[in-house]
Amino acid sequence: MLHLKLATDPRWVNIVEKNTEEILTDHAWCEQKAATNAITIITLNSEYPDLVTDLLLLAQEELEHFQMVHNIIKKRGYTLGRERKDSYVNELYKFMNKGGSRLKSMVDRLLFSAMIEARSCERFKLLSKELKDPELSKFYRDLMISEAGHYTTFIGFARKYGQDIDVDQRWQELVEFEAEVIKNYGKEETIHG
Ligand SMILES: [Fe+2]
Ligand SMILES: [Fe+2]
Repeated sequence: MLHLKLATDPRWVNIVEKNTEEILTDHAWCEQKAATNAITIITLNSEYPDLVTDLLLLAQEELEHFQMVHNIIKKRGYTLGRERKDSYVNELYKFMNKGGSRLKSMVDRLLFSAMIEARSCERFKLLSKELKDPELSKFYRDLMISEAGHYTTFIGFARKYGQDIDVDQRWQELVEFEAEVIKNYGKEETIHG
């Protein structure tokens, strides 16, 4: 799905199911990071009106997701825990070209963002299929559809503005890189864990 090279081992869901409070806290912070990342892309690339328009909308959706997760946390009598680090995302971050032209950096950041959406989407799909909790199963199905749309937005802008860059080849390199990273995950009750 979404051109990922490696599928998540479904046994990861059994780990998640044992600690709903932890996955919800981790998930809430993933949404916060997604909103922050969209705003950072806008800050660094403000001269593209269509990108600013669409990413403002995307950032709002991510904040809405954050709120939705927080509502579930409250409903279940939990409290949002402290911010969690996302070592998967931190490892993926290393792929990005930081010293080249602004355009190259923008394309890389858009592809990096698309990849996180793609993996999150794959994880949400698995949760929606395998979780026995009906509320969470439906919740993850709805979010999966929204994150798939975000993937398309990021990839679309990378292709649109990266005309002088071989975006498909760069994406393939990232797919290979991500497969190496994700190999070591699937063992913790976090969205990318
Ligand atoms: Fe989201
Ligand atoms: Fe998203």
